[in-house]
Amino acid sequence: MDQFLIHGGKALRGGVEAAGSKNATLPILTASLLADGPCRLSRVPNLRDTETFLKLLAEFGLRIERPAPRRIAIDTSEVRTGTAPYDLVRTMRASVMVLGPLLTRFGRAQVSLPGGCAIGARPIDQHLKGLEAMGAEISIKDGYIDARAGRLKGVRVSFDMVTVTGTKNLMMAAALAEGTTVLENAAQEPEVSILADLLNQMGGRVTGAGTPIIEIEGVDRLGGYEVGVPPDRIETGTFMIAGAITGGDVTIHRCIPEHVRSLTLRLREAGLDVTEGNDWVRVLANGPLQPVSIKTAAYPGFPTDLQAQFMTLMTLARGSCAISETIFENRFMHAAELVRMGANIATDGRTAHVEGVESLAGAHVMATDLRASASLVLAGLAAKGDTIVRRVYHIDRGYERIEERLRTLGAEIERVSE
Ligand code: EPZ
Repeated sequence: MDQFLIHGGKALRGGVEAAGSKNATLPILTASLLADGPCRLSRVPNLRDTETFLKLLAEFGLRIERPAPRRIAIDTSEVRTGTAPYDLVRTMRASVMVLGPLLTRFGRAQVSLPGGCAIGARPIDQHLKGLEAMGAEISIKDGYIDARAGRLKGVRVSFDMVTVTGTKNLMMAAALAEGTTVLENAAQEPEVSILADLLNQMGGRVTGAGTPIIEIEGVDRLGGYEVGVPPDRIETGTFMIAGAITGGDVTIHRCIPEHVRSLTLRLREAGLDVTEGNDWVRVLANGPLQPVSIKTAAYPGFPTDLQAQFMTLMTLARGSCAISETIFENRFMHAAELVRMGANIATDGRTAHVEGVESLAGAHVMATDLRASASLVLAGLAAKGDTIVRRVYHIDRGYERIEERLRTLGAEIERVSE
């Protein structure tokens, strides 16, 4: 197993380009199950999750080609329904997104129930409730969801909580349903709008994405698509914090500054100089870090996917703050590891109280999930001495060659075998 060896304490300086978004790539790939025609993607991030997802799509007859690096061409001419197996769904919960498209196109889909994961129970009741309201008959057998339907019918669905994947799943199901579906309390994350634009390019009729009410008028057929994957806002935010925590000066190019605005505002409150242009954002460290409390929320609120990284930054602030996690019930596993590096953090249910310390010290730490591992890398970059971050396969799920890109900014980080 690979691990990162980080020699901390160097201020990061320079520019880095944002990669294509993981959480946009997965629904774009999923939408190819709806396509009657070829699909082409560019700026596809080279990630473990992308690879796993392509394996899943192959189960449904899609033929994947890679005409060039970061490009994928999908031949959908032999697409069919099938089963999303436990082994793939278990490692990547986003796999559940194939349920809506397969069901609406073929009238039948079987998908393993994902089960819990490191950051929480993560049920999918809202996906199932919506599909049932559209006319699906759903039973659970041997750990698998077995869904059957004639043509799904457009209905009004009101989500009990904001769910990003649930919104995407039902949008795709509704795209080929009979009549109009209205999703209320829909997720407003940029990745939802990206999917809506894609469905419209394929011949769908989706309006309201980016607001809490999305309307989808079903059509009889969707064609293929050609799309460049938009930049990853969580990766952008992680690089911004890398600049901040090392007292450096980092510019992220080819990003969408609006997508990281909630972070930008908090970084400014913390005393950083953050400037932005059309497609870049620059973080310049400027004097001592001030403590800033945050509470995660659905977009446009502060993203849960940057909570761990922001907590790491706050471990070095001059004073105390509270970090509250409202989206997932178990997303503080990085806190105990940060404490091992000298941080002063006390967790109390869904709130972590962070008292800033003078410095962090290098240690052996263990990554437990994707964003927690990013936060430990950030801690290692800022710490005095050497840090070893174990189980970096978590970080490879969502950050493309992060160590090489951090090195271009001057970081001393190496990938080594355990
Ligand atoms: C997406 O997960 C992202 N994943 C996550 O990114 C991200 O943390 C999350 O949205 C929140 O922004 C992808 O886009 C692939 P949810 P998702 O459904 O869609 C509860 C990362 O690090 N809920 O919005 O699975 C659920 O348990 C990952 O890149 C139900 O109770 O999240 C959670 O508490 C991790 N019932 C909350 O809602 C449901 O039917 C939000 O979940 C659905 C969700």
